[in-house]
Amino acid sequence: MEESLPALEDPASLLKWYVEQGLDETIGEEAIDRFSLVVQPPAAAPSPSIAPTAPTPFRPAAPSPAAAPRAPVPLESPQVVEDARALAAGCATIADLEAAIRAFEGCALKRTAKNTVFADGLPSAPVMIIGEAPGADEDRLGKPFVGVSGQLMDRMMEAIGLTRGDGFYITNILFWRPPGNRTPTLAEQAMCLAFTRRHLELVRPKLLILAGGTAAKAVLDTAEGIMRLRGKWTSVRLDDGTEIPTMPTFHPAYLLRTPASKRQSWIDMLAVDKKLKELT
Ligand code: URA
Repeated sequence: MEESLPALEDPASLLKWYVEQGLDETIGEEAIDRFSLVVQPPAAAPSPSIAPTAPTPFRPAAPSPAAAPRAPVPLESPQVVEDARALAAGCATIADLEAAIRAFEGCALKRTAKNTVFADGLPSAPVMIIGEAPGADEDRLGKPFVGVSGQLMDRMMEAIGLTRGDGFYITNILFWRPPGNRTPTLAEQAMCLAFTRRHLELVRPKLLILAGGTAAKAVLDTAEGIMRLRGKWTSVRLDDGTEIPTMPTFHPAYLLRTPASKRQSWIDMLAVDKKLKELT
């Protein structure tokens, strides 16, 4: 068995080396925390759209990412998701929702986080942005998108005339920082999405931006990756039938690592600007 990694320019040898090392299976782009998943009992697997064990369905409209739905989520405790939904449904105002999230003890991430990170900006702003999860800076300060990627997000929005405050309101699908900034598990996402759904209903923005693959997949309930989703308008339908025009786009942290993709993000921002002008 060859011990050292062959040159990247020689894909055939590289592939052979991977197989010899036992890596003979293709996997997804994102790591799955299998320790947090359990096998579901067969009786607890009704239709994904109404299943208490599935992430909260947001019913996206055309183009339909629902064509590639996510697999039902096996959860550690489906009851916790139900509790979160019931709590969220009982919140009549954004202040109620914030208080309910701060008091919620069902998500283990809260135990390792320093702060609950709810939202920033004015809920009356025309645009709502939903990102993934607080990082170290956000955890320390208790506000979303305040680190370097948040600063880039602010500059991108300012370039189309929208400032944090009355221009856009910003939050995450997770309210607590995952340790080491790991990708939140599907169980953690499902729990917090119960609140995010209510958040969206209470804010009712003119337009929604989903920043990054994790937020886009979770909110749109799709298995499609951000490379396919970005730059295409879709919508999220609220319970009363209202459709919120929705633009999935790259996460600013990805743009910091891959500056060449900023061009595509700029195209997305121009589309947001155009749509907003049409709507107002
Ligand atoms: N990345 C996010 O998705 N959200 C934050 O609040 C910070 C970084």
